Amino acid sequence: MRCVHLGQTGLQVSVFSLGAMTFGRESSEEESRRMLTRYLDGGGNFIDTANVYSTGVSEEIVGRFLQGFREKVVLATKAFFRMEEGPYGAGASRKALLRAVEESLRRLRTDYIDLYQIHCWDLSTPIEETMDTLRTLIEQGKVRYAGCSNFTGWQVVQSQRTAAFSGWKGFASAQMQYSLIERGVEYEVLPACLDEGLSLLAWGPLGGGFLTGKYRSGEQPTEGRIARATEEQEESWSKRATKRNFAVLAAIEEVAKNRESSISQVAINWLLYREGVIPIVGARTLEQLEDNLGAEGWSLTDAEFERLSQAGSMENLYPYRFIEWANKKVWGGG
Ligand SMILES: NC(=O)c1ccc[n+]([C@@H]2O[C@H](COP(=O)([O-])OP(=O)(O)OC[C@H]3O[C@@H](n4cnc5c(N)ncnc54)[C@H](OP(=O)(O)O)[C@@H]3O)[C@@H](O)[C@H]2O)c1
Repeated sequence: MRCVHLGQTGLQVSVFSLGAMTFGRESSEEESRRMLTRYLDGGGNFIDTANVYSTGVSEEIVGRFLQGFREKVVLATKAFFRMEEGPYGAGASRKALLRAVEESLRRLRTDYIDLYQIHCWDLSTPIEETMDTLRTLIEQGKVRYAGCSNFTGWQVVQSQRTAAFSGWKGFASAQMQYSLIERGVEYEVLPACLDEGLSLLAWGPLGGGFLTGKYRSGEQPTEGRIARATEEQEESWSKRATKRNFAVLAAIEEVAKNRESSISQVAINWLLYREGVIPIVGARTLEQLEDNLGAEGWSLTDAEFERLSQAGSMENLYPYRFIEWANKKVWGGG
């Protein structure tokens, strides 16, 4: 599997990260270990988990699995969501993070985390405090690189400016939902990441399973992640089952049929060659992972890439359209 640099760091990670969100939840420990083995045997080295996944069980499964060869992988985890009652059981304050990191280290059975990510922008903690705490953790050697997740574009830039004031680089990556049906990051977050030199780690590359072809228009699903999702979740059927999303799915299906690939492989491949983007592949079973790993080693033609991009193109909103128009007028082109 190819490797790329994480942001502007010297750290090389595989082009696919393996997501561990299903571990200990939909996937048993045995199935999770089979997936980890397959991923590492296939040349992968980048594992993404979080303290909150299965309330710590995902980290425990990964930690047990990695005994004896932990040095060979890049281990990413996250903190922010609630793990305990009270004001320090969640969030990105100094007290909460210093405790959360110790708990993750214990569950992961390691003395350092390669990439420690703030799971969501914390509205109740000054970003100066969060960045300062991350720097302390790096100085202590408990964390090697820091990342964010579920931030807006201005929040990414604000974090980087805050870090720069005290003389360090700040985040190496931003982990965001990004797929052919969820492209909101293209307005602000992806341009901010490219400008600031962060990798964008794309979670939900299959829209939680929608971009596999197993859900059909007009048929209320009874099985799968989307069938189980509650209304407030990103993968809820009401958010997924839109006319636009089914049009995107039809375009992927057409491309997949012509090149004899699976729908999932085409959907992931579209992300794989986007500048600065590293998809996090999730799976419930080894069979699904096998399918998804087939997204590497080939690329879409320019025409296929364009066809898919157009199928789910975003509304051209103000001020983006104005800036583009005005610059064309002033500087020419287009
Ligand atoms: N930072 C964040 O806030 C955040 C949020 C979510 C995820 N993540 C990370 O990103 C990773 C991937 O996200 P995701 O799980 O949402 O990714 P996804 O690829 O969009 O969805 C994965 C789910 O789709 C189904 N699926 C996957 N491959 C399939 C295939 N080939 N055929 C049929 N069904 C298939 C499985 O669910 P069923 O079989 O149950 O339908 C699987 O659990 C996670 O493991 C986690 O590390 C981060």
